[in-house]
Amino acid sequence: MSKYQFNCIRYRHFLRTSNISQIPDFTKYCIGPVNEELAPYIMETMKAYPSNSKYINPQHYYHNRTVLVENYLKRSPNPVSLTQLAQYYDDSTKLTRTKIINSGKFVKEELVIRIAHKLNQLQQLPFNVVNNFHFVQVYESYYNIFESFRKYPTIRTLDDASQFADFIKNMLEGFNTLNLPHLIMGALECTILDLYPREKMDQLLSDLLRARISRRLIVEEHVSITANYTSGKEENTLVLGDIFQECSAMKYLLEASEESKKFIQDMYFKDIPMPEFIIEGDTQLSFYFLPTHLKYLLGEILRNTYEATMKHYIRKGLEKPEPIIVTVVSNDESYLFRISDKAGGVLHDDENLWSFGKSKERAQESLNNFHKLPGLQTVSIYDEVHSHNKYNPNLKSLQSITLKPYMHTSLEPMSYPSIINGHIKYETPLIELLRRSFRYKLGIGLAMCKVYAEYWNGDLSLHSMPGYGTDVVLKLGNLMKHTKKVQLDKV
Ligand SMILES: Nc1ncnc2c1ncn2[C@@H]1O[C@H](COP(=O)(O)OP(=O)(O)OP(=O)(O)O)[C@@H](O)[C@H]1O
Ligand SMILES: [Mg+2]
Repeated sequence: MSKYQFNCIRYRHFLRTSNISQIPDFTKYCIGPVNEELAPYIMETMKAYPSNSKYINPQHYYHNRTVLVENYLKRSPNPVSLTQLAQYYDDSTKLTRTKIINSGKFVKEELVIRIAHKLNQLQQLPFNVVNNFHFVQVYESYYNIFESFRKYPTIRTLDDASQFADFIKNMLEGFNTLNLPHLIMGALECTILDLYPREKMDQLLSDLLRARISRRLIVEEHVSITANYTSGKEENTLVLGDIFQECSAMKYLLEASEESKKFIQDMYFKDIPMPEFIIEGDTQLSFYFLPTHLKYLLGEILRNTYEATMKHYIRKGLEKPEPIIVTVVSNDESYLFRISDKAGGVLHDDENLWSFGKSKERAQESLNNFHKLPGLQTVSIYDEVHSHNKYNPNLKSLQSITLKPYMHTSLEPMSYPSIINGHIKYETPLIELLRRSFRYKLGIGLAMCKVYAEYWNGDLSLHSMPGYGTDVVLKLGNLMKHTKKVQLDKV
């Protein structure tokens, strides 16, 4: 039997049975004692180290100890403020050669240290957890990033800094594409197997996601500052750098509403009556924010609201759908969006709404949907790690394989490379999210939004009045008030 055939069997096994990839039940495939053909694969699964792994091998412990523990873990990550990120540690807005070189040096050092601490966080997990089929791949991918950044030559000249900017663009494009789905599937499997408490699992995922947002911000600012300088710009005039923009609340709300309506039309039929969409309060509000994050947050929340409203309308046989009312409020510190519907409230029990791990039943449902995503089980991070290097010609094709499974799901924006015409656009594909199919409900929309809202000094809460409706309250910090605050993985 070829390895491919074996994987197919494993894959089918996931679909039919409990969807746990960790300990396959080999007796399902052969009556009587396990046969010789299967034996090597069983050995493979039971081995302490994955045989294809470049990092997790018998030398890993020593390498890890001398390099990671005794060196990088002794250094702490530098909390940074938004201004520091935009200006790169000098107070002037002038773009100079020295600033670009310093920026490159900082990004290289800082990313190695930050990823080292995340590796350490994974190493502190119970062995069963970090050795989970999905988590171990995230671990390996982080180790790979750690090694690549650590070994990257020192940045001395402007050329070095530009090349480094290209290198990190490639990193964003090539690695990491599977990390988020693997993290979530790992969390779901550990919940189902009772390997780790749900609250701790949520905390872990939230930590890793926030660290991811920070790393991307740091990388993005460097790429943008380098591109600006090399294209002849001498002054960095924007307060928070290129990636933050002034956003009109009304415009973003209306866009999110239109996207949700399209999704409802796809789900039902084109001429289905739509709920009235009313915006009240500070309708003229406009504020500095990351456009893609704002779109993502409002889009994700309104999708839920529209879906609940339409289901309620159909379930109750109402004459027309109940209206959706958004109230915008702002003060010096923050901006608040209250999205109110009369869709009968949340049907599921509350505590699982914010959880990546969920209750066992919900985790199983969510995991089942993950397993329905085409191709997911047949792609391993190991494939990617092994064929990737800076000049790797296979990168593109690997990418297309690894991306396919997430098309039109809530994971697509996180996995799709954020590169358009050679420039990274910060999480641009988050926008793609609003076009995803409703078929694959992964149940992580609210949990993800909470992480993003909290990152930006805000909050997300949901108040359900069973039998009546739901208020979802999204609060976002006024970033202009927090430009000088130094924080780690938060603004
Ligand atoms: N306004 C609302 N009214 C009623 N129920 C809601 C509302 N908003 C959210 N919910 C409930 O909360 C659940 C979780 O929402 P969440 O966005 O996290 O996941 P999902 O919509 O099920 O899946 P995904 O967003 O990943 O496709 C929804 O399934 C729905 O039952
Ligand atoms: Mg949702």
